[in-house]
Amino acid sequence: MSTRHLPLKQAKQRIQKLREDIKYHEKKYYVDNDPQISDSEFDMLAKELEALEKQFPELITPESPTQRVGEQPISGFASVEHSAPMLSLDNCYSIEELKDFEERLKKIIPKEKIKYVAELKIDGLGISVIYREGNFVQAVTRGDGFRGDDVTFNVKTIRSFPLTIRETHEIEVRGEVFLPFQSFHKINQERSKKGDPLFANPRNAAAGSLRLLDPKEVASRHLDVFLYSILTDGKEQKKQWQSLRKLKELGFKINPHSKLCSSLEEVVSFWEERSEKRDSLDYDVDGVVVKVDSTRQQNILGSTAKFPRWSISFKFPARQATTQIKDIKIQVGRTGALTPVAILESVQLSGITISRSTLHNEDEIKRKDIRTGDHVLIERSGDVIPKVVSVMKERRTGKETPYVFPTKCPVCGSSVFKPEGEAISRCENPSCPAKLKESLLHFASRRAMNIEGLGEALVDQLLGKKLVRTIPDLYSLMLEDLEKLERMGPKSSQNLLDEIEGSKARDLSRLVFALGIRYVGERTAQALAARFKDMMILSKASLEELIDVEDVGLKVAESVVFFFKQPENIELMNKLKDAGLIFSHKETTKPAELPLAGQTFVLTGKLSELTREEAAEIIENLGGVVTFSVSRKTTYIVVGESPGTKLEKAQRLGIPILGEKEFSKLVGRD
Ligand code: IVH
Repeated sequence: MSTRHLPLKQAKQRIQKLREDIKYHEKKYYVDNDPQISDSEFDMLAKELEALEKQFPELITPESPTQRVGEQPISGFASVEHSAPMLSLDNCYSIEELKDFEERLKKIIPKEKIKYVAELKIDGLGISVIYREGNFVQAVTRGDGFRGDDVTFNVKTIRSFPLTIRETHEIEVRGEVFLPFQSFHKINQERSKKGDPLFANPRNAAAGSLRLLDPKEVASRHLDVFLYSILTDGKEQKKQWQSLRKLKELGFKINPHSKLCSSLEEVVSFWEERSEKRDSLDYDVDGVVVKVDSTRQQNILGSTAKFPRWSISFKFPARQATTQIKDIKIQVGRTGALTPVAILESVQLSGITISRSTLHNEDEIKRKDIRTGDHVLIERSGDVIPKVVSVMKERRTGKETPYVFPTKCPVCGSSVFKPEGEAISRCENPSCPAKLKESLLHFASRRAMNIEGLGEALVDQLLGKKLVRTIPDLYSLMLEDLEKLERMGPKSSQNLLDEIEGSKARDLSRLVFALGIRYVGERTAQALAARFKDMMILSKASLEELIDVEDVGLKVAESVVFFFKQPENIELMNKLKDAGLIFSHKETTKPAELPLAGQTFVLTGKLSELTREEAAEIIENLGGVVTFSVSRKTTYIVVGESPGTKLEKAQRLGIPILGEKEFSKLVGRD
């Protein structure tokens, strides 16, 4: 249907119809898992609605499906008090403990028959959402149970939440926001490509996603939700089972695997069945939540300060497996820390092949009496890195060898030092090649000096051929040195030299981070650079001056002072300075002197040579500003492949459009 010249009245009707259709299909797709039309048919409906709303902006309402994802980044999260505390649940791990739970109930309500609702315990984040006059108005995280963060704009992007419901009373629904495994793996794959740290598990990824400031980014994470409770100021549901039904009737997504049980035995068999099928789901569940069905009984039972007495979570066993330790090896890190690692006979553990496990430190090995050749129980408890839970001593044959922790560094042979009261042993040699290797890799890493191409294989060669003995040696490498190395042709050698040269101009904050001072992470490095503005001043800062910096505590301050006291580090500073590295903070260059000062850029679509973050960084380094949405103040819009609606808006406003090539030219990249 052409909607170009509809009169207002007809447009209104058409908009109404489109919204209803979209809502219907969103529910079918996201809630009921039963799509009725193809994705492209759905997109056509969405596009038509968008176009009509563009023509008649006065008809846009916050509940329109086009408004799920806000264009503008948000500035932060307000703290909001919950109408009633969001309690957590007491845990139990065995049938005996579950029976104890029932005994406690029977003491308070003797002679009454108790029915239970058994639900899956979703491993996500508790959320509370309020609907007023049928409209989604506010979403708040569980927080500390009493107050949480207002994450309305982020939760609105979850498509299985209805934006409108047929219910005029104000209602509050509660449930669990989670990230399906599929989305989790995708996010981590992308992060790994970008060199960003990986999320340890879907729960952390979901928590990180809810805290993003750009709802568009949140929408791309594909969070989902299951609701399990409904609080109404009209009438209370009499049973938990009815609440679930009511939630479903209203169009909310509830978990399909729950059961009304007339006895504890039924609860136990539900738990056994679900425990077996746990890995068949696309989301993480860590147990079964057992709830007294009757609201009247719940009210009599009441709550302690932390938990309701009428509910308990019956946990599934942690994900464990047994395997054998083939060897124990030592890894020497950047700080010289010696970490023992168990090399395992490969095993599958909830879908992942495990062949190594950290043993943390010497004390841990002693405490658990871990020996080479031992059969061990390993566990992944939510996290990706498995740990050794215990040794199966009954399987010992006598051939196992106790582990003797080295007193010499396995890489350089220097003595190993373990300070009193500390668990970690460290190599004493400041120029231990293992330390140097890790230091170089850290120095060159993306978030530090960002020297592309300087990876592990190359660092090994540079160290092996003694071309590099300290970090500053990187800056005196010659083309002929590099060309001699394996897999380095003239072109890649020149590229690397260019990268190294380019790194000299990195901002002070990156350099401070790159030095690898203990406890100085990226944020602390930024704070230090912003405060001291020059490496030489920072290197002479006193403990008092350092503590004065926001976010810097005694531990960090002492570590910084210690670092700059070491003669080899003073020498390192001098050499880096001589090599021509910029020792001053970017802010000291007046913004007006930078070529893009006063210019505002919007990026849309996929660029082929750069990620958006890289493009944004280039613009910002040259004094420009990057914003998310096009306005009359936008100087340029930079357009990549498959640009979004921003391009249309820019065209309408007559904003100059730059392709990738033109952009590269403008910023002097070609
Ligand atoms: S009921 C007062 N039901 O687990 C009742 N909670 O460890 C408390 N959770 O804070 C909530 N699945 O975030 C309930 N089916 C389920 C749940 C569930 C996951 C979370 C919830 C709660 C935490 C307690």
